Amino acid sequence: MNEVHGNLKLDDKSKSKNNGDSQIRKFYAGKVILLTGFTGFLGTIILEKLLRTCTEIDKIYIMIREKRGVKVDERIKKYFENPIFNTLRNVNPHFMQKVVPFYGDLIKSDLGISKEDRRCLAENVNIIIHNASSVYFNAKLSHCLRINVIGTQKMLELGLECSRLEAFVYVSTAYSHHYNKQIEETFYQPPVDLKVIEDMIQADEENATGLSQEVTNDIIGKWRNSYAFSKATTEGLVETFSRKTSLPCVIYRPSIIVYTNEEPIPAWMGNKNGPIHMTIFCALGFMHVIPAPKDCILDLIPVDLTTNGLLALIWDYVVHRQSNEPQVYNYGSSDWNPNNLGLAYKSFCVSCREVPPIKMIWYPFLNYISNFYVFLVLHTLFHVLPAMLLDLIRVICGKKPLAVNMLLVLGRNFGALYYFMNENWIIKTDKLKGVLNYMNAADLKEFPFDLKAFDWFAYCKLSVLCVRLLLHDPLETVPAARRKYQRLRILHYTVCGLFILFMLIFLYRIAN
Ligand SMILES: NC(=O)c1ccc[n+]([C@@H]2O[C@H](COP(=O)([O-])OP(=O)(O)OC[C@H]3O[C@@H](n4cnc5c(N)ncnc54)[C@H](OP(=O)(O)O)[C@@H]3O)[C@@H](O)[C@H]2O)c1
Repeated sequence: MNEVHGNLKLDDKSKSKNNGDSQIRKFYAGKVILLTGFTGFLGTIILEKLLRTCTEIDKIYIMIREKRGVKVDERIKKYFENPIFNTLRNVNPHFMQKVVPFYGDLIKSDLGISKEDRRCLAENVNIIIHNASSVYFNAKLSHCLRINVIGTQKMLELGLECSRLEAFVYVSTAYSHHYNKQIEETFYQPPVDLKVIEDMIQADEENATGLSQEVTNDIIGKWRNSYAFSKATTEGLVETFSRKTSLPCVIYRPSIIVYTNEEPIPAWMGNKNGPIHMTIFCALGFMHVIPAPKDCILDLIPVDLTTNGLLALIWDYVVHRQSNEPQVYNYGSSDWNPNNLGLAYKSFCVSCREVPPIKMIWYPFLNYISNFYVFLVLHTLFHVLPAMLLDLIRVICGKKPLAVNMLLVLGRNFGALYYFMNENWIIKTDKLKGVLNYMNAADLKEFPFDLKAFDWFAYCKLSVLCVRLLLHDPLETVPAARRKYQRLRILHYTVCGLFILFMLIFLYRIAN
């Protein structure tokens, strides 16, 4: 008889799985990994998890560039001071012995890697996790294409030199082919080939101000932004390269990655990209209307579960594959256990009452508005006018204006995310769900990513803690913040009451 795990029936193959120690942890023992983009949000959690859980790993080579004039050594030193590594420091104090940083920049020819480093990588690396990327939706076209497409081509060439390579994993996005409303775990037709990309880069760079937005929109066609366009092109590049050279390639397509659920600490978020900016504004009582329906699917996934899914699929791909055919694995919640805006907001409100941020400027509340024109009117009333009033008061008090800048950030967020909040996607995840079939009890415990029974209400309650972490608001301020929350609440309902009263008087006068 078949066993049942979550929503899955375990087939006969799964009976051969080795019960006892984690097979995934054992798989990583002695492995040499090359990780790009480790300084970023997802990269940090991948690195931390590998070092904390896969303690028998041989080495992790981490690629880093110089940034804003800060040298690599200085960046590395500062990076590992991040409190996100505190748990790791406790469980594995000598973890730095496993870490080998090396200079590399995706935008440089030959990635800027020294000959010596390159030889060392070619001789030793077993798994490449290519996670680095320009993630800005509307970055300058040539910059985005150079990093995401040409940079990946160079990474693939490096992969081909690695004589012991078992897997080249490219981290893409579930929305790379977003014009489909159901995203399968398969390759889609890429927008253009490399030759066209090179021509586009040249045309964009020849012009000091770059190609105009209209020309860019014409080129990227049905893709909503240059980021998605570059990711779709890169997926095509990876597929073609893999078929031509037999390089064992895998594409991982996560949906919207947000803060940690549990590991190594709950509610940690490494950047303010995606919807988290709106959560911050909402928790501060700055944002009160959102141009999205209440039942809009929020395909969020916690970064720690996303990392576990990644590490498990690499193991699955290497251990169970029948050929070097490139593969695609998606990870999202819409097809597994969907979450929606209404549920997330309900849970957010509970959390706001319990641990409100001390920096609140008004009582936090939110209205969902589907009609774009009604939204514009309410946006003016609830965001633009109060922001201007607030800055006027700040200027009168001799302080720098602040709210209008926040308003601009909010406007950019609405612009970038409007399309994604008003369409629903189903991200199919059957292949990744299938990996669960092969996992034993220890694997499921150490590398959990099953979303079947995931409690979205409890998870979304962490959102305000995440805001507190991002705003460096320590838990010691909670009692004062609760008092402030109550005061703002009374003020808010008093203003609402007075407004209704004036409206009634006004209507009464008109009627008479
Ligand atoms: N976050 C999401 O919701 C989400 C969803 C789906 C897929 N993804 C994918 O997941 C991956 C990681 O995303 P993230 O959210 O962690 O992004 P992130 O925080 O912005 O991190 C991006 C990483 O890429 C590195 N990078 C950028 N340009 C580089 C260059 N020229 N050379 C070398 N490294 C470079 C950055 O290094 P520096 O520190 O030097 O800038 C950073 O480590 C990306 O491939 C992204 O497309 C993310």
